[in-house]
Amino acid sequence: MVDTPLTNSRIVTEYRNRTPKSAGLAWTARDVFPSGITHDARRISPYGVYVEKAQGPRKWDADGNEYIDYYGGHGALLLGHSHPHVVKAVQGQMERGTHFGACHALEVEWGELVRDMVPSAETVRFTSSGTEANLMALRLARAFTGKRKIVRFLGHFHGWSDHMAFGVSDHFDGSPSPGLLHEIARSTLLAPAGDVAELEHLIDADGDVAAVILEPTGASSGQIPVDGAFLTALRKLTEERGIILIFDEVVTGFRVSPGGAQGHFGVTPDLTSLAKILAGGLPGGAICGRADVMELLDFDAADAKGFEKIGHQGTYNANPLSAAAGVAALNMIKDGKACDRANELGEELRRLWNEVIAEEGLSWACHGSFSCFYLFLNPQGLPIGPQDFDASKYGPEVFKVKSPVANKLRLALLLNGVDINGKPGGSVSAAHTRADIEATADAFKASIAMLREEEDLGTARAA
Ligand SMILES: Cc1ncc(COP(=O)(O)O)c(C=O)c1O
Repeated sequence: MVDTPLTNSRIVTEYRNRTPKSAGLAWTARDVFPSGITHDARRISPYGVYVEKAQGPRKWDADGNEYIDYYGGHGALLLGHSHPHVVKAVQGQMERGTHFGACHALEVEWGELVRDMVPSAETVRFTSSGTEANLMALRLARAFTGKRKIVRFLGHFHGWSDHMAFGVSDHFDGSPSPGLLHEIARSTLLAPAGDVAELEHLIDADGDVAAVILEPTGASSGQIPVDGAFLTALRKLTEERGIILIFDEVVTGFRVSPGGAQGHFGVTPDLTSLAKILAGGLPGGAICGRADVMELLDFDAADAKGFEKIGHQGTYNANPLSAAAGVAALNMIKDGKACDRANELGEELRRLWNEVIAEEGLSWACHGSFSCFYLFLNPQGLPIGPQDFDASKYGPEVFKVKSPVANKLRLALLLNGVDINGKPGGSVSAAHTRADIEATADAFKASIAMLREEEDLGTARAA
């Protein structure tokens, strides 16, 4: 997102004036990291704010500026930043030890919580990230079915491993992105989400499909939604053919409901990948699911039944600090109140932003589901309105076109005290208040006014 002309802009000048320490750090970082950043999604021009501390729904940058935060630790912080119970649990664990190189009681408690909360979780294996959980899900599916290929849906994000790094925001034709093997790309079939008939045809014509994996609320945590009927149809189709259905609930797990999207929609996959909220804001992931599939990781079952088990290592699997944070977080989430609150506030944010968009006469829309929201800035000038925008009608190629105003809008929002992600969008936590949501709508309106001053509203001006 570097396409907005940044010179002669009051927004950019004010941003630079307000964030000199961040500017200095960004300058140094340019020589240390490619692009000066440590995650592609943190790119913003001319530079992002460097955050020094965070609490509840807020964070503060190196220059002392305060923001209402909707980045939410890339979606990991359903309970907000540094929830006191999570902090206490981690501090206590820190004193007792950070890595035992051994089994420990907290990992058992953590695993039991996952098993009790996630409908598909008959047994659980911890990993260090969502990317790793998905890697293991694919390997389990292949070993269990004896088939080679996986089906993914266009635009659905599953981390950055070789099977997942194309067809998300580019390479929609299935060609490998740089560094990937053609063989891996060829063993990954890309399908449009929502079309069961086409999927059935693809699977039956191929005959070598081990697994179907998807984000169960739709691409990019529901930016392009799928509905419960599609999940039900997928479940039937895969079950009939002995194909492993994998729900990637790295974002939706413990967010949509305590049982994730599968708990909400009542559709149980064979395997589920988890991360983010799972570990209470610390690094961690898990793969869980049907005991007869997960058994492929089991030494005793392999000996008893005479199969070769799948190897699985990982220095930080079930790390005690992550386990402490995860147990504290999941215990607070399991009654469902935190999910309900975040979902309600998410709906309120979308409603208020759409009111602002309508008042301003823009052809944008704020959409999303549960506690996730997206701002569609309509760079192609589609005939849409904020109240009737149906994102499921469009493919990922529509959403990947960056609006020329996206970057500057984010800077304007930062100037007005709000941080969102680069989609642009964000996730609401249970720590946000109704007052935060209202203040955010005011900030959105003020940011639009700043863009208007610069006559920079992209295609929306025509509306
Ligand atoms: C749906 C989904 N799956 C997998 C991942 C990868 O997880 P991680 O960043 O922990 O590797 C992400 C990360 O954002 C995600 O959103």
